[in-house]
Amino acid sequence: MRAAIITASTKGYQNLREDLSGPEIEKLLVEAGFQVVSAKILPDDRNLLGEEMRRIADEGLAELLLTTGGTGFAPSDVTPEATEDVAEKLVPGIPEAMRYYSMQFTKRAMLSRTQAGIRKQTLIINLPGSPKAVRECLEYILPELTHGIQIMTGETGECARTN
Ligand code: MTE
Repeated sequence: MRAAIITASTKGYQNLREDLSGPEIEKLLVEAGFQVVSAKILPDDRNLLGEEMRRIADEGLAELLLTTGGTGFAPSDVTPEATEDVAEKLVPGIPEAMRYYSMQFTKRAMLSRTQAGIRKQTLIINLPGSPKAVRECLEYILPELTHGIQIMTGETGECARTN
């Protein structure tokens, strides 16, 4: 399965801050068997973020698109809004699960506004901005994503559960 990464960070884009979260996501995706086809840093700009999400989905470049950053309360945080702009279907269970799991590490997880959605055959998931949060969220959700992606792409038609 192919994956793409977008880091939303105006300071990262301007080379004023090193992006540690994008490379962390890439490492975890590769360990999980994904092929990472693209990793970009973009400014916290709703239109630019949405354009890149749309491009990856509409050109069929990746089945999974993970973003990091821009999910908090700062006026510049617009990654969830960009995701809503481009999603054809929302997938609320994934951010709900991340927040539920993350509350054991920090109650500030409730401040994360991460969103997830599907556009064409691409599952887009927002992750919070720090490498620590990225690790904590991905360790919980990544093992379940393959099944969802297989259903999304039609590779498997059913959940094949007997109980
Ligand atoms: N989730 C996990 N698992 N671990 C964390 O350390 N940090 C929280 C939250 N989610 C955190 C987390 C904090 S402090 C904030 S402000 C929000 O994510 C939003 O982060 P962002 O603005 O960097 O996207």
